[in-house]
Amino acid sequence: MCGIVGAVAQRNVVPILLEGLQRLEYRGYDSAGLVVIQDGQLQRERSTGRVADLRLKTTGTHGTLGIAHTRWATHGVPSERNAHPHLSNNLIGVVHNGIIENYESLRTRLSAAGYVFTSDTDTEVIVHLIHSHYKNGASLLDATRTSLTELIGAYALGVIAVDNPDQLICARRGSPLLMGVGVGEHFIASDVSALLPVTNRVIYLEEGDVAEIERQSYRIFNASGAEVTRPVQVSKISNESVSLGTYRHYMQKEIHEQPQAIADTLESVCNSTSIIPGIFGAEAAASFDAVNSILILACGTSYHAGLVARYWLEEIAGIPCTVEIASEYRYRTSVPNPKALVVVLSQSGETADTQAALNHAMALGHVHTLAICNVAESALVRLAKLRFLTRAGPEIGVASTKAFTTQLVALFLLTLVLAKQRGRLTEAQERQHLNDLRHLPAATQKVLDLEPKIAKLAEQFATKQHALFLGRGMHYPIALEGALKLKEISYIHAEAYPAGELKHGPLALVDKDMPVISVAPNDVLLEKLKSNLHEVRARGGELFVFADANTHIRSEDGVHIMQMPEHAGYLSPILHTLPLQLLAYYVALQKGTDVDKPRNLAKSVTVE
Ligand code: F6R
Repeated sequence: MCGIVGAVAQRNVVPILLEGLQRLEYRGYDSAGLVVIQDGQLQRERSTGRVADLRLKTTGTHGTLGIAHTRWATHGVPSERNAHPHLSNNLIGVVHNGIIENYESLRTRLSAAGYVFTSDTDTEVIVHLIHSHYKNGASLLDATRTSLTELIGAYALGVIAVDNPDQLICARRGSPLLMGVGVGEHFIASDVSALLPVTNRVIYLEEGDVAEIERQSYRIFNASGAEVTRPVQVSKISNESVSLGTYRHYMQKEIHEQPQAIADTLESVCNSTSIIPGIFGAEAAASFDAVNSILILACGTSYHAGLVARYWLEEIAGIPCTVEIASEYRYRTSVPNPKALVVVLSQSGETADTQAALNHAMALGHVHTLAICNVAESALVRLAKLRFLTRAGPEIGVASTKAFTTQLVALFLLTLVLAKQRGRLTEAQERQHLNDLRHLPAATQKVLDLEPKIAKLAEQFATKQHALFLGRGMHYPIALEGALKLKEISYIHAEAYPAGELKHGPLALVDKDMPVISVAPNDVLLEKLKSNLHEVRARGGELFVFADANTHIRSEDGVHIMQMPEHAGYLSPILHTLPLQLLAYYVALQKGTDVDKPRNLAKSVTVE
C-alpha cells in the first residue's frame, strides 16, 4: 500500500527511483510518479497504471535528488492529478504514505491563505503547509517539523525543495520508512527490497523520527526533537530472495518456498527434544505463567491462522482462546481480562487495524502481549512485549501463502509451550509433537508435488462464477482460507462454511454450476463430513475433495478426489492449506488475472 523511494546522490537517481518503485509494486498501487530537480526546476512525471508506464514517460528525465511514489487511492480517485508527488508553487515536492485525518480543516485554512489545490488528496495539504513555513524563512527541516506538529494522522514522508538541491527530508509516524546508507549517497524507502540494488545498509526510523539527509551525511531527530543515533543494520534480505527466479509469479514461488520457510521457522527447536518458553522472548515464561486465557487479534489470512490456533490451544493446552478480527475489536466495547495473553498475528507487522487493536488492548490494561510476525523491524514487533519471528522471508505476492503456514507453525509451538507449562504434555507427547513438526518440511514438499494434478483440476473452474468451500473442526478455517485465496486472485465469488452448517442455509445454493470444494482429513469428523458431502451430491453439486489417505472417499461421476500423501494429525491444517493455495493460483491462471497484484488489493494495509 503506497510506496516511497527517494535518493540524493552524485549520479542520476531516476533509474534508482524507478527500480525502487518497481520493487514496491507488490504493495499494491494504482498510479505512480516521481519528481527530480532538473536544470534548477522541479521536473515531475506521473501516470496512472504501472510503473512501466512511468518509465516510458521519464526517458529524458534526470537529476541527482528525487522522490518517487506508488499511490493506493484513499482520498480522491486514482488519476494522474491525484498521483504523487504533490508540489507547492513549483518550490516544494512531497510524497506521502498514510492518511491525514484533519486534512479538511487544513485545506480550508490553506485555501483561505491563497493556496490553490490541484488534487483531491489529503497529501496536498502537507506540501502547502511546508511551503507556508519555508517561504517565511524556515529551513526545509524546520518547515517540515513545524508542519508535522499540525498534522493529525499517519505518515511517511519524503520532502524536497527546488532551491535546496542537496537535501532530502523524511519523517515517519504510523507508516513504515527506512533510510539506505550508500557511499556518498543516501536513500529512503518504504521497505528494504526497494533499495537492495543500491545498498543493504539500512537505518530503521522510529515512530516520530525526522531526518535531514545529504549525500555525505545525515541527521536524525526523534519525536521530541532531540538529535539521535540510530544503528545502521545490514539487511539479511538478499536481492535473490526478492527476485522471481524461474517462477512465473511470486505467489507460485512463495507457495514452493513453504518447506524451507517452515524449516527456517522451526530452527529454534530443530535439534531439541524439549521446547522452552524462551523462544517467545526472555520474559515469556513469567508472562505465560501469569495468563489464564488467550486473545488473538489479526486481519484476513492472519485471522484464519488464529482461528486454527484456537482449536489447538483449547484442545492441547486447555486454555480458553478467543479470536477477533482486529478492525472489529478496536471499536468494540469489550470486557478486558488483564490476565489474557494478547497475541497479534501479522505477516507485515504494519497492518493499521492490527496495530490499533494492540494499542487498544494495551490501553484497556492488557500487559501480556505477543507479536507473531514475519518482519523483524515492524511496528507490531516493537510494540509487543513478547515476539516470535516467522522466518518465511520476504512475501511479495499480495495473496499471503508462506506467511500463513509459518504463522501456524509458530502458533503450534505456542500451544506446546503453554500445554507443557500447564502440565498437559508428557515428555513422550512433547517428543512426538516435535518430531511431527520436524517432518513438516518433507510432508509439505510431498503435497506440493501434487501441483500438476491440481493445475489440471483447475481447468474445470475456468467458467465458474461461484464456489463453496467446506471443512469441519480445525479445517473449517482452512476452508475459509481457501475461499479467500480463490476470491482474491481469481475473482470467483467463494464462500466457506463449516460442513455441518450446510443444511442450515447454504445447501439452497448448491446445483451443478456451484463447485463444492471440501477438505477431508482423516480425523474424528470424517464420517460426519462424508454425510455432508452426500447432501451436496444428492443436489447435483459437483464435489472437489482433498482427502487424506484411507478416507475411502472414491472418485465417481461428479466427485473429484485429490489424494493427499499422508495425514498429519494436529498439523493437518498446514498440509491441507497447500492444495487450496495451488488451486487458487491455477484457477487465476485460467482466468488470466494479475496473480501477484490482484485488483483493488494492497499487500500491506497501512491505512484503516
Ligand atoms: C490475504 C492477505 C490479507 C492479509 C491481511 C493482514 O491473502 O494477504 O488478508 O492477511 O491484510 O495482513 P498482515 O498479516 O500483514 O497483518
